[in-house]
Amino acid sequence: MHVDRYERGWMIAAVIMLVSFAVAVTVAGLALGIQLPAPEARVNPQTVAVQGPFAAPGLRELAPGRYEAFIMAQIWFFNPREITVPAGSTVTFYITSQDVQHGFKLEGTNVNMMIIPGQVSKLSYTFTEPGDYNWVCHEYCGLGHAAMFGTVKVTP
Ligand code: CUA
Repeated sequence: MHVDRYERGWMIAAVIMLVSFAVAVTVAGLALGIQLPAPEARVNPQTVAVQGPFAAPGLRELAPGRYEAFIMAQIWFFNPREITVPAGSTVTFYITSQDVQHGFKLEGTNVNMMIIPGQVSKLSYTFTEPGDYNWVCHEYCGLGHAAMFGTVKVTP
């Protein structure tokens, strides 16, 4: 079968690009630990505020330096608005919404998730440096969108 010289060249270039992307994604995921926000679970937005872990949102200590933060996003605030952990802690965020789509972007980190009603979004982050890490809702969710923020306080 005859394949034009230019066509063959572009086919080879396409294969090289695909292999490069596959290597980049594998290195990012396995060697650098970069994770995509995973939809952790499905919940019923009608009942999520009264039953299950989001009925009492907040910080739970699993072991020294290991925490889970259950955060409820709703129009137009996060519950809780603030959590405090010591430096060196790894916090796994579990966030859901009981009304409309919200966002969760934690400044200075790679924690950046969409918060969708009916779904729990999950990401972990290790806070090595003390300080205040503010988070904002970055999906437009209505009149009070600009008031949706909160803080992770990391103490020395
Ligand atoms: Cu919630 Cu914007």
